[in-house]
Amino acid sequence: MTAVEAFAPAKINLTLHVTGRRPDGYHLLDSLVVFGDVGDRLRLTPGPKMTLDVTGPFAAGVPMDRRNLIWRAAETAGWTGRIDLEKRLPHGAGLGGGSADAAAVLRCLCGPDAGDVVGLDTILALGADVPVCLSTMPQRMQGIGERLMPVRPLPMLNLVLVNPGAHVSTPDVFRLLAQRYNPEMPGCSGWSNQPRFIDWLAQQRNDLEQPASDLAPGIRSALDALSRSLLARMSGSGATCFGIYETAAKARDAASEIAARHPDWWVVHTQTKGAVQARRATT
Ligand code: C5P
Repeated sequence: MTAVEAFAPAKINLTLHVTGRRPDGYHLLDSLVVFGDVGDRLRLTPGPKMTLDVTGPFAAGVPMDRRNLIWRAAETAGWTGRIDLEKRLPHGAGLGGGSADAAAVLRCLCGPDAGDVVGLDTILALGADVPVCLSTMPQRMQGIGERLMPVRPLPMLNLVLVNPGAHVSTPDVFRLLAQRYNPEMPGCSGWSNQPRFIDWLAQQRNDLEQPASDLAPGIRSALDALSRSLLARMSGSGATCFGIYETAAKARDAASEIAARHPDWWVVHTQTKGAVQARRATT
């Protein structure tokens, strides 16, 4: 029986502007999203019955039944079988989590155009981040997550990701937002020059940083720990923060130093990457 392996890379919101709210309560966003080379790993083995097994450093608390988005993503694609998920990224952490895993399943079963195969509304119903996670390429994301525009060129970035062990609930963060109608990102069209790109990023925001830090003050400590980077921000609704470094060696050194000072934090260095393809494997 042929199994397929898939990779669910970390989704990183380099910016996240909240620009409005829909009548149904969902917030309108304008966000520049990139993907790292760290992520969860999945293996899908076709069979008559759906089963899910979760391993890895962040397996604790991950549902192993239909509550898990990957289970529902597989059903959406009309597939059954055994799914093995190796949870390497903290979840509920602003890195895509279940949405990234669900997107990896859909990409694996339906190809990169899963949105066309299954239907964008069906995919959005799984999670607002699922459409962007399907692409694994730098995107400007608008609406609640359904409007995607590729951003290229974009310089490869050397990042350190830091999660201070705090878990923040996305609905709670949105609820605490003081101002819901903020300006869009100006001039998000692509950069080949890294210093100019970082100058532009420095003028952008994550509007969820303030409410998330009020809920989880550890986010401010994580940003402080990244203060010697070129730029440090929170990703998504938190609590993971990223710092951008000039070189891979500087990112690696910073990650070692932060991890040594905060042994209970999750700290990794990563590079932003291009598309990640599903890979065939045999059982
Ligand atoms: O779609 P997802 O399950 O990821 O969203 C979790 C929650 O975050 C939603 O129920 C909603 O409260 C909030 N959210 C929002 N606007 C968005 C995305 C999420 O208000 N664009």
